[in-house]
Amino acid sequence: MEEIRATLAPWYLYIKALHVIAAALWSFSTAVAWVFYLKPALRRAALSPADPEARMRRDHYLELFDRGALVEHVALAVLVVTALAMLWLGRVDLTRWSFVTAKLWIGVVLILPMEAIDIYLSHLGGNKAGIRRTGDMARYERMVRHHVTFLRVTEPIVVVLVPLLFVLAVAKPF
Ligand code: HEM
Repeated sequence: MEEIRATLAPWYLYIKALHVIAAALWSFSTAVAWVFYLKPALRRAALSPADPEARMRRDHYLELFDRGALVEHVALAVLVVTALAMLWLGRVDLTRWSFVTAKLWIGVVLILPMEAIDIYLSHLGGNKAGIRRTGDMARYERMVRHHVTFLRVTEPIVVVLVPLLFVLAVAKPF
């Protein structure tokens, strides 16, 4: 184990660079699609429930959004692996309160559960294109409702959390 640590130690800053790239992708890769495409389409479909075109656009954008979320979730995996690598290589003392332990707690308590639900809704049982192929449109509508609720609940959390994580990581206030 010590040999692996010694081999990886000179790469610490490159691992950190990868971590920062993954943090940026995880944080912002879905932002434009959400704010300028999906959200207006959801609003229009909600305001005109009898309009088939509004519903078609909502479903089309949601299915594309499911697919696009792959970038966010691959970035999440890189973020977690690089974070763990830096904790190990930097011999971070996790019993002491610091900006790293704060990030770790936010990661474990908020980010991971949130992302587990998101991964289920986007790529696993809640994947809209997959459900459409089975023809089970009642389940499709249920998953659309769950996904929309999830996006609405998590939006304010993400808007606060992401800048906070960047400030904690860069300013290292404690
Ligand atoms: C999930 C738990 C996370 C842990 C345990 C973690 C851990 C770390 C560690 C140990 C460093 C290196 C600190 C140093 O060498 O100075 C770091 C750097 C960084 N992290 Fe994280 N990280 C996590 C998640 C995140 C997230 C979600 C973001 C942003 C959304 C983020 C953004 C950054 C940035 C921007 C840096 C570079 C800071 C600098 O060097 O000035 N991290 N992180």
